[in-house]
Amino acid sequence: MNTIFIIFWATWDLAKRKLFPALYNIYRKEKKEDIDIIAVWRRDFDNKSFKEYIKEKTLNFIEHKKHFDDFLEKIKYSKVEIGNNYDYINLKDKIKQLSKENTQVIIYLSISPDNFIPFIDNSKNLDLPKNSKIIFEKPFWKDLETAIFLNKKITEIFQEEQIYRIDHYVWKEAIQNVLAFRFSNILFEPIWNNKYINNIQITATEKIWIEDRWWYYDKSWALRDMVQNHLFQVLALIVMDPPSKLDAESISQEKLKVLHSIKIPTNDDLVFWQYIWYTDEKWVEKNSKTETFVAMKIEVSNWRCIWIPIYLKTWKNLDKKQTKIVIEFNEIPNILFKKFWNIEKNRIIIEVQPDESIDIHFNIKENWNSKEVQEVKSKFKKELYSKEAYEKLIEDVIIWDKTLFTTFDILKESWTIVNDLVNCKDNCPILYKYEPWTKWPEIANNLIEDDNKKWYV
Ligand code: BG6
Repeated sequence: MNTIFIIFWATWDLAKRKLFPALYNIYRKEKKEDIDIIAVWRRDFDNKSFKEYIKEKTLNFIEHKKHFDDFLEKIKYSKVEIGNNYDYINLKDKIKQLSKENTQVIIYLSISPDNFIPFIDNSKNLDLPKNSKIIFEKPFWKDLETAIFLNKKITEIFQEEQIYRIDHYVWKEAIQNVLAFRFSNILFEPIWNNKYINNIQITATEKIWIEDRWWYYDKSWALRDMVQNHLFQVLALIVMDPPSKLDAESISQEKLKVLHSIKIPTNDDLVFWQYIWYTDEKWVEKNSKTETFVAMKIEVSNWRCIWIPIYLKTWKNLDKKQTKIVIEFNEIPNILFKKFWNIEKNRIIIEVQPDESIDIHFNIKENWNSKEVQEVKSKFKKELYSKEAYEKLIEDVIIWDKTLFTTFDILKESWTIVNDLVNCKDNCPILYKYEPWTKWPEIANNLIEDDNKKWYV
């Protein structure tokens, strides 16, 4: 089937780093005549100048460059001001010119959340075929109230099966493996509860900084950008009950139950930081209260998880990119080996990126001529090339597979958890300052050391 893939905004960071490379990989594998791309942005490019622009910006993110010039030929440029209905009529003509029998149109909205509404209002002018699909990037606007309003507007125009709310973290290979690891083995499920788990840590650090996304980030902050969506999704998969089937509905129901059980965090459960010269950055407001580093403690108050402290933390501008889940188990009783040696607690570590691996840390008497018990690691590491999350995600949209997409109920629940925080006004958490590139602000340690635990990064 022929697909016309439309990217709003095609000059943005996400398009350059992820979407064009993902589409190129799909183009290389599929029948090449089956995909056309319309790049949308509000500046005056023509087809030629846009191709030159995107080639320069994207080439670094492409692995096999051989067919990239042919791929560029598939891209048409369309200038659209988000609120200008004439521009949508021009875009409609471009869609018509590229359409064949049975063409499906997929629109990827990588735009700032406050542009969703003008897009929806004007999308009527596109006269889209009934099998069209719209992909909404996160965050799904800015809080609970706006998300509910947005969803109402969308569903007035599009059918639920046409709406794809994404969170690309769930397409990461290691995250998809969480369910397989937990539910295709009998070993782990019996201990996956508050009798055995001491604490859970989910960490996402990044090397990159905001780059050209100040206008977005300064309004969005780490809490909306990473925690409310990516980290909550990962958390839900880590602690949810087994779904009755491996389909979209059953998995979503279990995730929803987890999110519904999360106790709303208070200011005592989290620390916000801003790096020291953030407000000197060119695009940032001088009194900006945007946090660039969040650490928070969460409790999932259900039968399985209550009393397990769950620590989430995320920040940019560190010396390494790493997404990691650590599950630390309880101490063994202090009678046999622990009496003589400092025995580490067992841990399961799921590394999501840069490597994809699962480590199990346990203790054995390692050396035959010594009595000493030591910690060893049994590591499963995936060496094979696994597809970029966005490539898998786009392929799923093309074939109407909604298994991994976020339902609105899940989004609503996630917004409910952070709603007071994102609207904190006079009662916001203290914003500490830290120097980027250092390990992390010292004060982050209090959050976990007060509970007698330590960070694993
Ligand atoms: C995006 C955030 O959703 O995820 C970015 O908006 C962040 O700020 C990115 O850099 C991280 O994604 P990944 O796949 O590179 O870990």
